[in-house]
Amino acid sequence: MEDNIASRLTSHRVPAVVPVQDILEDASAGLIDAPRSMPPKYFYDERGSQLFDAICETREYYPTRTEEALLRTCAREVIEQLRPDHIVEFGSGTARKTRHLFDACDRVGETAAYWPFDVCEEMLRDSGQQLVQEYDWLRVNALVGDYHGGLAGLPPREGRCLYLFLGGTIGNFTEQEAATFLAEVRAIMRPGDGLLLGADRVKDPGVLHAAYNDESGVTAQFNLNLLQVLNRELDADFCDTNFEHRALFNARASQIEMYLVSRCRQSVHLGSLGHTLELEAGERILTEISRKFTPARLESLLNGAGLAVQQHFEPDNGWFSLVLASPGEASVTSS
Ligand code: AVJ
Repeated sequence: MEDNIASRLTSHRVPAVVPVQDILEDASAGLIDAPRSMPPKYFYDERGSQLFDAICETREYYPTRTEEALLRTCAREVIEQLRPDHIVEFGSGTARKTRHLFDACDRVGETAAYWPFDVCEEMLRDSGQQLVQEYDWLRVNALVGDYHGGLAGLPPREGRCLYLFLGGTIGNFTEQEAATFLAEVRAIMRPGDGLLLGADRVKDPGVLHAAYNDESGVTAQFNLNLLQVLNRELDADFCDTNFEHRALFNARASQIEMYLVSRCRQSVHLGSLGHTLELEAGERILTEISRKFTPARLESLLNGAGLAVQQHFEPDNGWFSLVLASPGEASVTSS
């Protein structure tokens, strides 16, 4: 039995096929000149990942629980429609929500292999072990790598694939980055494959603002934790009491923008770059965008990448979308 469990869990390293910038390169491109910014992927060190989990528990942060409830209700339909042999998830984390799809497989008597793709090998191993114990039919092939490095390095799979990109992470990408990523997914898809994409929606700005400014201050801690990451990785001397969290909804760009704002005039030394930043009071570092979509915007984004919307799942309040897309052009209605 033990052997059976171990044999159902394998691990593969996915080589980057397009160059991925490291934190030094990102910091020298983003921090030295205004407007200053850092890519949001650096939030997620161990403490950052814990803080993100804590954000999901706050009263104000609705996306995670909204998406999970939606996935619970649509999982069976997705599995029945696609009958996937493989489920490939980009940025799988602990794969908590993905269980709804495995439960749906259970219910319709399907078996599939799960390919969680993440940078954190330890998390992949722990969650993979859990999953093969919980689901006695499940094979887990962990993919260790960074999907920013492209998808052409994924090991070959035979049969139908369901690709998952959940959590609204697509919102962290600029328009260009989102288009590029979806085109990469499209390029590895074959007829009969599907992509299930989770995306947050435009809504009452008050609801959006509250979700990124929770009363308990967890999101502020999450944002400020980036400074600890920079101190450690860049041998820098950011002092987090000299910065404050700010998150605002930019309605024109339809995105939440999260900043670290300098509370005073200060110098910050970046040891690894041999550079000292001079920050004015009130100067900002953009740490994250989180785009909020309309159904039409989502559809045109997918269509632009050669993907057609097959089904659009949303809750009654329209706060979140799960879109099932398939390769091919949009069904054009001729006028
Ligand atoms: C994990 C990228 C979907 O954009 O809402 C939560 C990250 N940032 N609170 C988001 C986040 C601040 C989150 N995503």
